[in-house]
Amino acid sequence: MTALEEANLRRYYDQRAPEYEQIYLPRDQQHACELGELSRELREALRARHVLEVACGTGYWTACAAGVALRVTATDASLAMLAEAREKPLPANVELLARDAYDLHDLPSDFDGGLATFWLSHVPRARLRAFLDGFHARLVAGAVVYLADNVYVPGVGGELLPADRAGDTYKVRRLTDGGRHRVLKNYFSTEELRTVLAPGTSELAVRAESGSGRRATAPPWSAERHGGAARSAGTERCGSPPRTSTFPPSSRQTSTSLRMPNRLAR
Ligand SMILES: C[S@@+](CC[C@H](N)C(=O)[O-])C[C@H]1O[C@@H](n2cnc3c(N)ncnc32)[C@H](O)[C@@H]1O
Repeated sequence: MTALEEANLRRYYDQRAPEYEQIYLPRDQQHACELGELSRELREALRARHVLEVACGTGYWTACAAGVALRVTATDASLAMLAEAREKPLPANVELLARDAYDLHDLPSDFDGGLATFWLSHVPRARLRAFLDGFHARLVAGAVVYLADNVYVPGVGGELLPADRAGDTYKVRRLTDGGRHRVLKNYFSTEELRTVLAPGTSELAVRAESGSGRRATAPPWSAERHGGAARSAGTERCGSPPRTSTFPPSSRQTSTSLRMPNRLAR
């Protein structure tokens, strides 16, 4: 992914900002259920934490985290997305900051919670390690990180273009003004996610869901945890039970869990 393509991604979100939250209007029962599951898991993971959120967008999940966290420092590179977030009646424990997810060095390094929803799929494969290292560098040992992302369902969320030489894939997205955007969108397999998230992770659980009847491939919804037990997914009311994998503790006492619901496909 070139600097130009990264700039394209930001411009896309700048332009999408006013219409972005349409994706959170429940489309059907399964979609509503998955949104509820994410909300519940996120709140469970980040309760009473001092949270660093990257790529917070319009602050939809920021608001959710803020309801249970001690404090949320929510960051995004798009001023337009942040402006949407500022329109929300976010509680006083939320701080919104313009930051590049790859350059978090000037933030404190005492967060014991991390949050990144629907961001990892926008990270070029070649930058995954650097992003995670930079993110983790802001966290204390024993922190909990909750990540969530989209599952790939053919035909949903625009045409998926073939991988480039770096192995990154792109989607063609249309906005309501008719504008077409070529947007980096990687769908990592469960194994890839385990591999990339395992370093420095004490426990890692990957949860995939394909209960809506639509075909899902290489999907991520994830919760990552630094220290302590990984969260188990509560999918009892929403499709098939999660598959959970736990990895042995490492020196950094980190754990990760991933869940992949189906109706949040993009
Ligand atoms: C799919 S949206 C996710 C927003 C929000 N987390 C959510 O779940 O609704 C991806 C976000 O990544 C942001 N973004 C794009 N490039 C970024 C970068 N280099 N650093 C930080 N944020 C970036 C976009 O502005 C956008 O808000």
